[in-house]
Amino acid sequence: MKIKNELQPNEIDSSRMPVKLGSALRVPSYAYPAWGITGDEKWLREESDRQYEIEWKDGTEKQMQNVVAAITKSGLGDYSQKLRDSNASLVAEAVKKAEREVNYLELGAGVSTINVYNKLKSEGLDLQKLKGTLVEPSKERIETAAAKLEGLGLKLGRDFKIYAARDVDIPKFVEPNSQDIASYVAVVHHHADLDTPLRCVYNALAPGGKIIIADWHNAMWEHPNRVFELLKSGFDWPTKDDDLKAFVSKYTRALEHAPELSPLDAASNAHIGRFWQCYGKVEAEQKANGTFNPNDRLVMLEAHRPVERQNEVLQHVGYKKITSERLVPDAGILYVTQAWK
Ligand SMILES: C[S@@+](CC[C@H](N)C(=O)[O-])C[C@H]1O[C@@H](n2cnc3c(N)ncnc32)[C@H](O)[C@@H]1O
Repeated sequence: MKIKNELQPNEIDSSRMPVKLGSALRVPSYAYPAWGITGDEKWLREESDRQYEIEWKDGTEKQMQNVVAAITKSGLGDYSQKLRDSNASLVAEAVKKAEREVNYLELGAGVSTINVYNKLKSEGLDLQKLKGTLVEPSKERIETAAAKLEGLGLKLGRDFKIYAARDVDIPKFVEPNSQDIASYVAVVHHHADLDTPLRCVYNALAPGGKIIIADWHNAMWEHPNRVFELLKSGFDWPTKDDDLKAFVSKYTRALEHAPELSPLDAASNAHIGRFWQCYGKVEAEQKANGTFNPNDRLVMLEAHRPVERQNEVLQHVGYKKITSERLVPDAGILYVTQAWK
């Protein structure tokens, strides 16, 4: 898609860098002051959402494979699977307890959805008891997921529905108060502002319904100084001095010291720094062997945030009994969060 190569608002030219930085409108919106971002709130929200759409809409299966390749290279091997498994276990537990069909809404559906149905199968549960409404902006990926579910004996239309759409589009096709469980597996961090999507999901949930968020968390994108330090110490490229100057000139607080991090957040940032170094190598290999596809490119500046920041928004929207379980012992990088309507 041509637009991927055009410079976006609040973006510097990172075309010579080992990773594409993307627009700073993608960082958590509470960090906008640190990034020097100001403007009309409605425009900022819409433009930030558009920046994420540019990244994901035309992505293929390869986009996810690149993520997995970088995760594996960086030694975070089974982390994506840990998130999927934590969601699948909670969904299976609910299906087991339920006396009737369970309406299941998954946002950013894909491999994680297949994982859920496989878990039901492995537990000897009736797959048709889970009525999936599966939402994912990449048409190719949602259709691939549907084909895999049909391979498990389920029927599109009868047992599950698919929508090539975003979470914020669900009021157009999901009845209010209709869903028993709504899950996000490694997805909700694709929003600088979490309140709108989490409210859409809240409205779709039946009273007593549950949201499950299994996600990556870190504090890297809260301050340009953290990104500056990562670029400076973690990467080398021929035009590094000039590109770092451009970074500091656009994001002027990059040379300020960012606030101290808790040990869990510091460990999480170290992990995520390694991920991006390895992702840079994955792209470099593809460019060298001619398999690089710009539509599958990941964009570095992201809206991941420490889990406490996410949970503040859940509470603000109205969710109750919010609990987060850390999935790795030494870093605040993976959590599965549950909350109820
Ligand atoms: C890291 S992948 C995770 C996919 C899947 N849940 C899994 O764990 O295998 C993130 C997915 O979120 C999707 N996504 C991005 N923005 C979204 C949005 N606003 N609503 C729903 N899905 C979104 C992307 O297209 C991508 O497929």
